[in-house]
Amino acid sequence: MARIQSFFSSTKKKEETQSQSIASEQQKCPVRHLAFIMDGNGRWATKRHLPRLAGHKAGVSALRRIVECAADENIEMLSVYAFSTENWGRPRSEVEGLMRLFWETIRSDLEKLHRDGVRLRHLGRLHDLSPDIQQAVKDSVELTRNNTRIGLNVCFNYGGRAELVDAIQQIIADGRSPDTITEELISSYLYTRDLPDPDMVIRTAGEMRVSNFLLWQSAYSEYYATPTLWPDFGREDLLAALDSYRQRQRRFGRVAVSPTQ
Ligand code: FPP
Repeated sequence: MARIQSFFSSTKKKEETQSQSIASEQQKCPVRHLAFIMDGNGRWATKRHLPRLAGHKAGVSALRRIVECAADENIEMLSVYAFSTENWGRPRSEVEGLMRLFWETIRSDLEKLHRDGVRLRHLGRLHDLSPDIQQAVKDSVELTRNNTRIGLNVCFNYGGRAELVDAIQQIIADGRSPDTITEELISSYLYTRDLPDPDMVIRTAGEMRVSNFLLWQSAYSEYYATPTLWPDFGREDLLAALDSYRQRQRRFGRVAVSPTQ
């Protein structure tokens, strides 16, 4: 009996310590990393009787706006889903348009992004992209590598499953033995190695899907969905998402004990 009591009292103590640590994590847990599924460009264009590419162009303007607002809010980094490994299945004209837009945006915006202290990273399969794009991406990553105001991780030709396949292939190629495979090791083989997991994934345009985005990294991310189409997403929408984040209690699979328990 005494043993059972001591088990329960030690469990209670553990819970209290856990819940205190959850509360303190929450307090000292500013948003470091926001990830965006930038959905709704096509619908935005269709509503205006414009070609879909006009929606993607408006999407780039929204992205410029959000990088600025997020930097003002002291967010450490953003990851944005600009082209998925599944997007190759779209009509050829749209794929080519998105490729051109990516390349043109790097060319037109790189200097300003650099001046503004933005550090660019690319997440995804670079080798499947055209040599011009590969070079532009490498140059922009290199040019901005010492910038510290905000990070912008552009997920272009990115897929969460493809990322895991790439990681597993490399782990095997490196001759790792089964007993060395840990969560930390797998993380260190992902495109996001050395980056914090996203605190929140924001999806625009009202869909409630993960769509193969940061599958491993978002295991404990908060999700936020808004009906706002990506080209319309602005400061107010970002602040609303941040507000929602701050009201949540992140438990990372543990339990929180209320003060009355
Ligand atoms: C999803 O909307 C959006 C995309 C597949 C592309 C997102 C690209 C941008 C915001 C611009 C390109 C980014 C860079 C960095 C140059 P959708 O087309 O699926 O919209 P819909 O669901 O309304 O059709």
